[in-house]
Amino acid sequence: MIVLGGSSCQVLAKEVADDLGCELGNLTTKRFPDGELYLRINSDVRGDDLVVIQSISRPQDSSMVELLILLETLKDLGAGKTITVVPYYGYGRQDKRFNDGEAISARVVAKHIQLDSDVFYTINVHEKHIMDFFDIPTRELDASALLGDYFKMHDLEDPVVMAPDIGAMALAKGIAEYVGCDCDYLEKKRLRPGEVETKPKTLDVKDKDVILVDDMIDSGGTMIEAIKLLKSQNAGNVLVGCIHPVLTGSTISNLFASGAVDVVATNTLPSQISFITVSPLISMALKKL
Ligand code: R5P
Repeated sequence: MIVLGGSSCQVLAKEVADDLGCELGNLTTKRFPDGELYLRINSDVRGDDLVVIQSISRPQDSSMVELLILLETLKDLGAGKTITVVPYYGYGRQDKRFNDGEAISARVVAKHIQLDSDVFYTINVHEKHIMDFFDIPTRELDASALLGDYFKMHDLEDPVVMAPDIGAMALAKGIAEYVGCDCDYLEKKRLRPGEVETKPKTLDVKDKDVILVDDMIDSGGTMIEAIKLLKSQNAGNVLVGCIHPVLTGSTISNLFASGAVDVVATNTLPSQISFITVSPLISMALKKL
């Protein structure tokens, strides 16, 4: 088996290859003068099974085109089975037609990836039903244990795991299991027309250290609102974690400025806070194949 990392996952691919004790493939990518992508696979892949690791990271269109060109080229060069691992599934937030005429972009991504893949893996996809867009075997891996292990190492005062909204509650539950504490989510209650109150659904956070988690952090707006709210309720330290650090602009510094004492993510996307590697998660899944 050969592990081949696309531009967005070169270090992760090396880690997975090392975990599995198999060859790390090599490819060259560069741009033609007009901006089009040139791709060449330098490893001999004929007859070998391939693990291709590439996140649909920013710039998403380029990552996606690189992945599709890579997958088709592998098949064309006579590779065996291709297991495509997309740690961060970009375009996942457009998973349905919210307004008339909109593209269901998450389905477009699935349709094209599966053309030249035999198996598909991703990590904590934004909406579970995205996996149903695939007609090939798929697996969604869950990185919550890795975040849980990270936060467990901290010396926390009466910790509680909090999701900024109900959508992130499953993730919060998973992490709380590993930390060994309670979890909750922030709920918006309409008090009267025009008046909304947001607070933890059941738990009191006063003097408790809060581990605030979401599947992704993009602008940071969701987390910053949540941090402010927790602080107004006299929470102790607020530590922020996510699986996918999408991070647009000065998100990290804004999170610290709003009172977070730690901000951490996995390396499904490379970033300044990608301290937790998902390589054991991917390797373990591949070993069970
Ligand atoms: C929303 O559905 C997601 O789970 C995140 O809460 C959201 O994408 C975070 O975005 P931002 O950081 O821009 O608030």
